[in-house]
Amino acid sequence: MTNQVYSGLEGVLAGESAICDVNHTGGGLEYRGYAIQDLAEKASFEEVAFLLLVGVLPNQSHLAGFQETLMHSRHVPEHLLDFLRNVPTDINRMDVLRSAVSILGMEDPDTAKNDHDANLRKAVRLTAQMPALLAALGGEQEAAAQAEAPASESHAAYLLRLLSGKTDDLSVHALETALILYAEHEFNASTFAARVTASSLSDMHSAVVSGIGTLKGPLHGGANEAVMDMLFEVDRMGDVEKYLSEKFAKKERIMGFGHRVLKKGDPRSEIIQQYSKALGEQTGETKWYDYATTIEKIMREEKGFYPNLDFYSASVFYLLNLPVPLYTPLFVCSRVTGWAAHVIEQHDQNRLIRPRCKYIGKKGLSFLSLQERP
Ligand SMILES: CC(C)(COP(=O)(O)OP(=O)(O)OC[C@H]1O[C@@H](n2cnc3c(N)ncnc32)[C@H](O)[C@@H]1OP(=O)(O)O)[C@@H](O)C(=O)NCCC(=O)NCCS
Repeated sequence: MTNQVYSGLEGVLAGESAICDVNHTGGGLEYRGYAIQDLAEKASFEEVAFLLLVGVLPNQSHLAGFQETLMHSRHVPEHLLDFLRNVPTDINRMDVLRSAVSILGMEDPDTAKNDHDANLRKAVRLTAQMPALLAALGGEQEAAAQAEAPASESHAAYLLRLLSGKTDDLSVHALETALILYAEHEFNASTFAARVTASSLSDMHSAVVSGIGTLKGPLHGGANEAVMDMLFEVDRMGDVEKYLSEKFAKKERIMGFGHRVLKKGDPRSEIIQQYSKALGEQTGETKWYDYATTIEKIMREEKGFYPNLDFYSASVFYLLNLPVPLYTPLFVCSRVTGWAAHVIEQHDQNRLIRPRCKYIGKKGLSFLSLQERP
């Protein structure tokens, strides 16, 4: 065993996976061997979810069956919707979502089973239940209550209709693209947390709860909400340069920039950026895109930092009329498929994840009785 410590596990290969390839030098990103650009442009979220969970792209009949199963798995128990209705609205929505998934886990018919097929059933149910949970989190109780009614619309169209009422093609494509881009990113912090939980042979819902708790932080999924708060602040000040120079002077981080692995840019950012521009033009609110491109230019030129997926996603979500406190829960709506794929992979070839630490504390102290201690 080496004595070398890698702070934050940076650069450590902590396991093998066949789900997602993040190429940090060439900037490529593939889900199960397919380039993210192709998936974002040509696939639906349902095809991508199937690809991640099952391992191959579905053919027409597989996809039709998968969509049907998703539609019929939307049921969220009434008492859980009641709980969501009664939680004060000022409580962080990720905290509420974490608790909601925990409750779903207590009641899932497969909760005690970790075999491959049971895990797949739980993954599909969780994916299908997310839109109703988000609708209830957003205060759309009526929508949440009706959420399980089967409809022919896509998952993205259904989610968008519940949360904002928008139904036009550009808006649906924008959300669908965000869901595809957010779905998976190998051993990021929340996925690793989910795998650690699964590795003790704990269950799918417990692993997803670990993922949600980890995603909440502003250095991870919470960044998309922080980006929108930054854009609001820039709008209030009316001066991007002044905003950034004050941040730089205080040595504060600019949310939506930087990445532990992708130091030369995030390929997902370029894809979602197009939707921020197009939605700005569609709604006539181009200022958010303009602020964002100016921030990006300054960050690149002065600091050498590139935007990550969260940066342009924030203005996309805003222009889709989605409430800011739901931005990180929206990330969950998508990433639940990636987490679940990793839980399935972990359980299929499990070994407990249990690293070591280098002890740097005191040693060999003499024990003093309570009366002897100063
Ligand atoms: C994602 C992130 C945590 C990865 O960081 P990391 O690889 O651990 O890098 P470190 O935290 O060690 O930072 C290295 C240096 O870059 C700086 N830095 C990193 N991200 C920065 C940002 N977004 N803005 C300004 N400075 C940043 C750090 O302050 C540090 O500077 P120092 O060496 O002078 O102290 C980091 O880039 C970040 O905090 N970004 C903002 C939050 C965000 O967008 N998260 C979503 C990620 S997908």
